[in-house]
Amino acid sequence: MTAKISIIGAGMTGSTTAHWLAEREIADLVLVDIVEGMPQGKALDMQEALPVIGKDVAVVGSNDYAATKGSDIVVITAGIPRKPGMSREDLLTTNANIVSAAVENTLKHSPDALFIVLTNPLDTMTYLAMKVGKLPRERIVGQAGILDSARMRAFVAMETGVSVENIQCYVLGGHGDEMVPLTSRSNIAGISLRDYLPADKLEAIVNRTRKGGGEIVNLLKTGSAYYAPSVAVAQMAEAILKDKHLIVAASAHMQGEYGLKDMFFGVPVQLGRGGVEKILEYKLEADEKAALEKSAAAVKESITVMQSLVKI
Ligand code: NAI
Ligand code: 2OP
Repeated sequence: MTAKISIIGAGMTGSTTAHWLAEREIADLVLVDIVEGMPQGKALDMQEALPVIGKDVAVVGSNDYAATKGSDIVVITAGIPRKPGMSREDLLTTNANIVSAAVENTLKHSPDALFIVLTNPLDTMTYLAMKVGKLPRERIVGQAGILDSARMRAFVAMETGVSVENIQCYVLGGHGDEMVPLTSRSNIAGISLRDYLPADKLEAIVNRTRKGGGEIVNLLKTGSAYYAPSVAVAQMAEAILKDKHLIVAASAHMQGEYGLKDMFFGVPVQLGRGGVEKILEYKLEADEKAALEKSAAAVKESITVMQSLVKI
């Protein structure tokens, strides 16, 4: 393989990301974690699975950042996940220190890498990573929107019985309970969900989507979702390495788009080999515009709290 992806944090999301990526056979993979033996064990186990599915990629586990040398993409999942009763914001202080260290250490070995951040609180951690790494906005993006949109697509499919392939949903805004499922744009085979579903059913889907992360945390009890978040990261990494110019919902640095400046926020982003190539702006319905403003206020508050705790 000519491409290399390093995943920092080999826990549930990190190792599952490696799994989805190995199946795509697009890059050699490195898993880094602070727990001794764990990334090595998971990497070896995965390497031993690959003959069965016929995929030729190298999977290496390490506690040493030297193994990440020359990475094209660095995925940051290191940090603690939520437990029942916790919000994503409760993770802020602990994860800020972990994310800062991960960015500094990986840049020493891969000064030109693109970064995909997963650690929560997502928009704030991606902002922190950008500032710590002094990265241009093209080189850093946060994963949330593909996951939140996929959750909504799954709920619409469960409600209607229609194939997920016919269902497109767009969830923008911050990756918190104020996220904004754009019901006017979301559609089944081109028919807006506002026309396809009765208002009460649509409202129930919107609410379930907003609380989708918490629903999984309450069921798992010991951590948070990992299959869906990880496949979303794999889709983003593939879009970058294959230079697909794929438009997905993701957290990007705002430089005036949607009236927002110097914060990360979930918007339609075009991904290609250069990373974040373009940010698309929707003409929004009045209710959706108001909801996005509320969500932006929540992200700004989180960034302000982070800035009071961490020197950047
Ligand atoms: P996990 O606990 O299974 O894995 C986290 C890993 O990070 C652990 O193995 C831990 O040893 C490692 N770690 C801690 N400090 C480290 C350091 N300094 N350097 C390297 N590794 C370190 O947690 P999980 O489920 O993988 O979640 C990881 C993060 O991703 C959490 O903050 C979680 O909230 C977030 N998340 C975000 C999602 C999103 O859509 N943005 C979705 C799912 C999880
Ligand atoms: C989720 O939405 C934990 O943010 C993560 O599942």
